[in-house]
Amino acid sequence: MEYVTLNNGVKMPMEGFGVFQVPDPEICKKAVLDALHTGYRLIDTAAAYGNEEAVAQAIKESGIDRSEIFLTTKLWVSDMSYEGAKKGIERCLRKLDTDYIDLLLIHQPMGDIFGAWRAMEEAYKAGKVRAIGVSNFYPERLADFCLTVNTQPEVDQVELHPFFQQNKALETMKKYHVQPEAWGPFAEGKFGIFTNPVLEEIAKAHGKTVGQVILRWNIQRGVVVIPKSVHTARIEENFEIWDFELTDEEMQKISTLDTGRSEIVDHSDPAFTELLHAMKISD
Ligand SMILES: NC(=O)c1ccc[n+]([C@@H]2O[C@H](COP(=O)([O-])OP(=O)(O)OC[C@H]3O[C@@H](n4cnc5c(N)ncnc54)[C@H](OP(=O)(O)O)[C@@H]3O)[C@@H](O)[C@H]2O)c1
Repeated sequence: MEYVTLNNGVKMPMEGFGVFQVPDPEICKKAVLDALHTGYRLIDTAAAYGNEEAVAQAIKESGIDRSEIFLTTKLWVSDMSYEGAKKGIERCLRKLDTDYIDLLLIHQPMGDIFGAWRAMEEAYKAGKVRAIGVSNFYPERLADFCLTVNTQPEVDQVELHPFFQQNKALETMKKYHVQPEAWGPFAEGKFGIFTNPVLEEIAKAHGKTVGQVILRWNIQRGVVVIPKSVHTARIEENFEIWDFELTDEEMQKISTLDTGRSEIVDHSDPAFTELLHAMKISD
């Protein structure tokens, strides 16, 4: 496992485990336990996933010291105001059954993000959060945010996989010293990603799987990855990425797979914004 040091000195694992779309508490708990036993030390959840309690239970049951685990959660759109975020942070701490969150993200660039950020800065100063960041902030939004706020975001978590490589986003993050983190590193398993011929050929050359090649590609671009699976064998497979390296030529071949756009979500569609605003997080 490799780590990256964020601007504020906090060390973040380069690979973690995501739990989006795992609403069943027992399935979520088992998957997180599997991940922790495999060696993952970063768990990525969100208030909106409805599984913070299950994540907390898995961490407790694992017997692994809390200080060894890097726990990420995200505040939802309905908490995007100063008062809303203050309440949201306390709710996350309670559901996660912890005194502190390692990385707290604004989940979506919607609502009163600047008010919420002030509450997040206060939580950071109070030691309730070790790092604060954003998610789904595309280049122009990230630049504006960084130029406006007092405390710079440490991380921007965006959709990022071989079919949507986000070079402009990465350039912008580099400029503002924001660590990139990839959600949907496997494009959520869609669009035939696991049977793509270019990726299959590279995987064969290394005696690795397509999934391992995809994760390795992002790691070699300096991007933190948080693959999700509820299957033990895949959870293990996705962690075995530290014993090989892609060549420059292979990295170049993968760069040809970029379609330049997301087929998963469209942040420019007002209907998507309305949908997310309509979703409320309850206690
Ligand atoms: N910030 C955001 O807005 C945002 C949005 C989406 C996701 N995320 C975060 O990013 C994490 C990862 O993204 P994601 O869950 O959307 O999708 P993903 O990790 O790209 O893909 C998960 C899919 O790939 C399958 N899979 C996993 N490993 C595999 C393997 N080795 N071989 C074949 N299939 C495999 C999984 O199936 P099985 O589970 O059946 O194995 C699942 O269907 C999330 O869990 C969440 O923590 C954040």
